[in-house]
Amino acid sequence: MSSKEKLIIFDTTLRDGEQSPGATMTGEEKLRVALALERLRVDVIEAGFPAASPGDFESVKTIAEAVKESTVCGLARTAFGDIDAAGNALKNANSGRIHTFIATSPIHMEKKLRMSPDEVLERAVKAVERARGHTDNVEFSPEDAGRSEIDFLCRIIEAVIKAGATTINIPDTVGYNVPHQWEARFRTLIERIPNADKAVFSTHCHNDLGLATANSLAAVLGGARQVECTINGLGERAGNAALEEVVMAVRTRPNVFPCETGVDATQISSVSRLVSGVTGFVIQPNKAIVGANAFAHESGIHQDGVLKSADTYEIMRPQDVGLTTNRMTLGKLSGRAGFRDRLSQLGVTFTSEVELNDAFTRFKQLADKKSEIYDEDLQALVTDVGHVAANEKVRLVHLRVCSETGETPEAEVTLLIDGEERRGSARGGGPVDAAYRAIESLVQSGAELMLYSVSNITSGTDSQGEVSVRLADGEAVAKGLGADTDIVAASAKAYINALNHILDPVSRAHPQIDI
Ligand code: KIV
Ligand code: ZN
Repeated sequence: MSSKEKLIIFDTTLRDGEQSPGATMTGEEKLRVALALERLRVDVIEAGFPAASPGDFESVKTIAEAVKESTVCGLARTAFGDIDAAGNALKNANSGRIHTFIATSPIHMEKKLRMSPDEVLERAVKAVERARGHTDNVEFSPEDAGRSEIDFLCRIIEAVIKAGATTINIPDTVGYNVPHQWEARFRTLIERIPNADKAVFSTHCHNDLGLATANSLAAVLGGARQVECTINGLGERAGNAALEEVVMAVRTRPNVFPCETGVDATQISSVSRLVSGVTGFVIQPNKAIVGANAFAHESGIHQDGVLKSADTYEIMRPQDVGLTTNRMTLGKLSGRAGFRDRLSQLGVTFTSEVELNDAFTRFKQLADKKSEIYDEDLQALVTDVGHVAANEKVRLVHLRVCSETGETPEAEVTLLIDGEERRGSARGGGPVDAAYRAIESLVQSGAELMLYSVSNITSGTDSQGEVSVRLADGEAVAKGLGADTDIVAASAKAYINALNHILDPVSRAHPQIDI
């Protein structure tokens, strides 16, 4: 048994992470991410904001019923309707938590809430009491605590702990603080609040100045014992503290931090990839811990050192975060059992035989084009499984693109639209442009392409290209992902995937509400 204190890891990928514009996930995708977070052994999964929409309520409820090991949390404003919605969504959870919040900074109280500090305090206390009627696991956040006055923070926190809050989360909502200040803020709060020992103090940092992880770690030094974070640092605006960075910093520097997490770090790479896949947010290559280059040694001096002894340049081993880069796992002759088995080692399970068969067919098609199939290929393949939704209106049947130097590229496309086969063609500035115009000539969505990015899934020219697109249609923003050894085909798949979200009324409804 370790003598170190526990650092609670509270993942908010499915709530704050989903507030990134364009990162909306379907209920099925959220469940998949929640089960992956449970395998990662995070302590708390903030599954969503149940009062935001019926879809969000259902998805928090489904996650609360499916997840057994982690606590499932629902966010609520201080309005009783929000708190009751969270309580109802969580009522079947093995372990559920209601997280309620209200802004406490002068600027938010005056300009947004138009309430006096005393009114805010009274609301907060009533909200916590109401939440305690549903569960004894209640978290309270004074929103914009990073710009709130310390005396008022001490007053409101003392009152909500007295009312029954068991976790006090201190958010740097606008990412304004710097590490030494943030550490000092925690020390002061914990020292000055008389009943501080009755609650766990938590930190929730945004990354507007690129300091979210540094501030979170500073808070831990100042006494925080819960860190709120997201996979790949997803989140509102510049994002939240990245879970993988916080966890690996605490683990790699045990002499600095007086606590340890219960996270199974070997799951980090696979969860990171899953979240990138379902949100369409590509991970930058130099991203700490999970970027493609995070463990790549390029310069001769570094390579020489690592070959002689890995610890010359590596402070962590790739396998610590579950990286099995470029390991060939399956090939053309692999059978269904081997396929299912390798995917289950990667933490992917199928909910039905139909889903398994569909993925296996794609695997065989890929193996025909690409002799060596790596873990990354398999994960891209299953991310694709989620795209074959029952409500898919548009399907790609065939694509032919002609591209020659000095000539205008031309594309011919055959689509199945609502079950009816349609053919179209177009010319474009490049092969991808021609393919997109040909698709649009048939679908006529009028959606605007906001983002197009392509990356390789593994190395080598036979690697699959993974294309991520974001389409906007009025208020609705939808992402699309496609993978193929042919990047024009991958591009068409990604575009059609996003179109299906735009054309689906359920996907269109973004669950965010004004907070
Ligand atoms: O950043 C923030 O203040 C939040 C709260 C809801 C905790 O996300
Ligand atoms: Zn936040």
